[in-house]
Amino acid sequence: MTAKLRNRRVFSTRPVARSAIATALVLLFSQSGAAVGADQGAQLAATCASCHRLDGHDKGIPPIIGLGEQRLSSALLAYRGSESPNHIMHAIALSLSDEEIASVARYVAAQGK
Ligand code: HEC
Repeated sequence: MTAKLRNRRVFSTRPVARSAIATALVLLFSQSGAAVGADQGAQLAATCASCHRLDGHDKGIPPIIGLGEQRLSSALLAYRGSESPNHIMHAIALSLSDEEIASVARYVAAQGK
């Protein structure tokens, strides 16, 4: 009895990059959710900075430096509620509480001054 046990390729190479990025973002924001006080805005803004450069010199992605606090928070609320359709910002805004939106908007708005 010679059963042919050949090594089969059991690992398929699916494109998982997208979900990996999504997972990373979720982890990022669930951790930052634990931040408290004045540091919260700064910590949240650090996560924004991976896409929006905080020196205001963005290419491709619209800059968020120079936008007022009101404009920032209403944009985030609109993304969270899907009124502004953008997959990336919707996912990000969904992970933010009202309080987190307020503190990141306050912090980012202060960077433009
Ligand atoms: C993974 C990349 C990424 C991250 C991280 C990210 N953004 Fe964005 N953001 C984008 C893209 C792309 C757009 C443009 C979306 C569109 O066209 O509507 C955008 C748009 C915006 C806008 C609208 C700008 C305008 O002029 O209308 C605001 C405000 C904004 N982001 C704030 C934030 C804040 C605050 C954070 C951090 C909490 C953040 N973003 C994190 C990619 C990102």
